[in-house]
Order: sequence, then C-alpha cells, then structure tokens
Amino acid sequence: MLIGRKREGGELDLDELRWLVTGYLEGGVSEGQTAAWLMAGVIRGFSPVEARALTQVLIESGEVLDLSGLTGPTVDKHSTGGVADGTTLLVAPLLASVGLRLVKLSGRGLGHTGGTLDKLESIPGLRTALEPDELLRIADEVGCVVAAQTARLVPADKALYALRDITATVASPALIASSVMSKKIAAGAQTIVLDVKTGDGAFMPSRDEAAALARLCVGIGADAGRPTVALVTAMDQPLGTGVGNALEVEEAVRLLSADPDGRLAEVALALAAAALQRGGTTTVMDAAGTRDALRSVWCDGTALETLARMIAAQGGDATVCEAPARVLPQAPVVQEVSALHGGTVAAVPARAVGELAARLGAGRSRPGEDVDPAVGIVLNVEVGDEREPGDVLATVHARTEDDAAEAGAALRALVQWTDDPVQRPETILERVDEE
Ligand code: URA
Repeated sequence: MLIGRKREGGELDLDELRWLVTGYLEGGVSEGQTAAWLMAGVIRGFSPVEARALTQVLIESGEVLDLSGLTGPTVDKHSTGGVADGTTLLVAPLLASVGLRLVKLSGRGLGHTGGTLDKLESIPGLRTALEPDELLRIADEVGCVVAAQTARLVPADKALYALRDITATVASPALIASSVMSKKIAAGAQTIVLDVKTGDGAFMPSRDEAAALARLCVGIGADAGRPTVALVTAMDQPLGTGVGNALEVEEAVRLLSADPDGRLAEVALALAAAALQRGGTTTVMDAAGTRDALRSVWCDGTALETLARMIAAQGGDATVCEAPARVLPQAPVVQEVSALHGGTVAAVPARAVGELAARLGAGRSRPGEDVDPAVGIVLNVEVGDEREPGDVLATVHARTEDDAAEAGAALRALVQWTDDPVQRPETILERVDEE
C-alpha cells in the first residue's frame, strides 16, 4: 500500500517511513519492496517533508556521537564527492589550528570519485578505524581527526545506500540529502559545512539541481538545530592537480607548505571560512576576519604542523609533512604526457580524468575492492591555460609501462583545445545559508 501510494506520487509520513526502513533492516520488508519504493520515489520525487522524516529515521537506526565533552566549538565538513578533491586534508587542520574541533567521518572512493580514507591510508601506519573514545581523545589533543564511519552510526543508510547503488536510485536529491545529513547529524558536530559539487564530475551535473540539494541539506540541518552552510562549487574539471591517493596527500602537504595557491586552496579556504564564521561561537567573526585568521595559520606553517600531529595521533608517519616523496608509496613507472597540439585548454573533463585514474588502480568500481595508493595522474593544465605543442600536460604514475602508455594516450584525447580565448571559470558558484 505504501509503495503504491508512492508510485502514484503520494507522500509518506514519519511513521510510515520508519516502518519501511526498520522493516527492511529487520527483514519484514523485502529488498524488492524497498527497491520498488526507492524507484517510485526517484521517479515521482520525494518531498522536502519526506527528506526530513527520512533523515530522522536514518539517525534513529544507530548511535549518535556525543561531542559535548570537547573543548571548543565543533564543526563538520562534507563534500558530495569529486575528482582531485583533497579539501578535507586542508580544511581539517585549518579549522583545528584556529581552535575549532573537527571529528570527520569520511568515506572511500567509488567510481570516478576519490575518498579521503583511501588518501589518508596511503600514509604508512595511519589508521582510520578508530573507536569513539579514540576519536574524542585525538580531537581534544590535536583539534581534528579523520576516520572511517563506524558500523554503529546510521546503519540504515549503509543498507539503503548499498541497495540504491545497485538499483539506479542514488541520484535523488531527497535521498542524497537524507543520507548525507543523517551521517553529519549523527556524527555530533554543532555546525556543518557542505561542499555541494556541480558539473560533469558531480552527482548533480546541473547547477540548479546542486543548489536545490544544498538548500534541502541546509534546511534539514536547521530543523535539527545544527546550523548548516553549503557552498556550491564547480566539478567540471579536477579541483586539484593530483588525482590518486598518495599524489593527493603530497599535493596537500605541498599546498600547506607555501602560501595558498590555486583552486583547491581557494575552495578549502572558503569552506573553512564558512565553518568558522558559522561555528566559531565564542566570537562572531566577519568574513574578512575569518579569512585573515585562516590565511595566517596557513602561511605561518601552523596548519601543516596540525596535519602532522593528526597523522601521528592516528599512527601515521608524520614526516610525510616534511618529505612526502620519501614517505609515500611511489609508482614504479612515471611518465610525462606532452601536448600534441597547442592552443588554449577548453576542458579537462573531471569524470573522465577520475575514471582514468581509477583504471590505473587509484579507484574502485565496486565497494570493497583494494586501491593502489601510489598510482594516478598529476595534471599540469587547467581550463584557460595556454600551451605549445610538446609542453607537458600531465605526469602519469603507473604500475606498468603499458598502463602508463594507455593512460597517456587517453589523457591526450580527453583534454579539449581551442584557438579562441577562454575565460577561466569560477570555482565557487554560490553560498546557501539558512533562510
Ligand atoms: N553521498 C552520500 O553520503 N550519500 C548519498 O546518497 C550520495 C552521496
């Protein structure tokens, strides 16, 4: 009856959604029935009221982290996923360096997108499976900790997501919003900052859809008493230059070792500024004040030092922050890819670059597969750059000569050129606050 009502475009209430989801977890509602309800909702649309109710049901399915014992305002950050999106590796130490506390439960890469856990695990010794008491201790001592989602937090999301993944029911704003926000709310932070990606490498290719998802998430956060702010950012081209696990850690260390530079640094600073402005409850800071505070801990090396302390606290080799290439696994074959044509770069399609890095071994096509920490691509071009024939477009880090040759040829084919001038596209497209 509930499935039929959804098929006709009706709305299910909190109790009905609770009955369905709990029934699925406990076995009273079959996988087929749950998949039919999901598909009906994806086609007919879930209402914002259903998204809020589903968020509540998902949170109720497990434990909730209690961060109230931490000294300092707590914040959390989430990205809807992209390519060369190492923002967490920058935002976490930045926010910890200005006195905020961040307990970040991250995910793994899937398909063309990377995952922070895979990146961090490329650092020898680093552990991401941490118990709640360890999470809290590290957050108190260092200010930030980045670990794997525990099985006890929001188990219903894990079960539903696995079903959505195999039934083409991931791409629904309400399902994504409830999935993301249930995990963020259960993770306990007072303030939440979201990076909602849009463009060819994002879940939500169109900007309007991404902005609608951002508004939905911000509304759910506000309802739950967790101030939430979202930035809608471009994911048409990879955000950073490194696409691959160790390569992205190396890039984060390089960026934090100098003054902020490039699009990845820009997004990281903007997310951290939004979190600090919204979550730094001891002093209400204006936009210029937050940016100055963050730039100062970036430029004087404090943020890099905080990253090193977090890595050490999680069992990793913190000297990665002094000599990343010595500590991180290195691919046996490193090959430069040169441009055949000259001109201006018109496009570096994010999804295709992410898929290419995954094919080299940096990503996985099914959950649970191993990734190769060393391989990937370091890009030397972005949209708007001018290059001559023979200039280096990228460096491929591969297991074998054949892999490198294949990836190099594919990369050459996917970078698009024009003879016309190209305006560098904006990266931060809009900010969504509570209404
Ligand atoms: N990320 C999530 O955590 N959940 C979704 O549903 C989609 C992306």
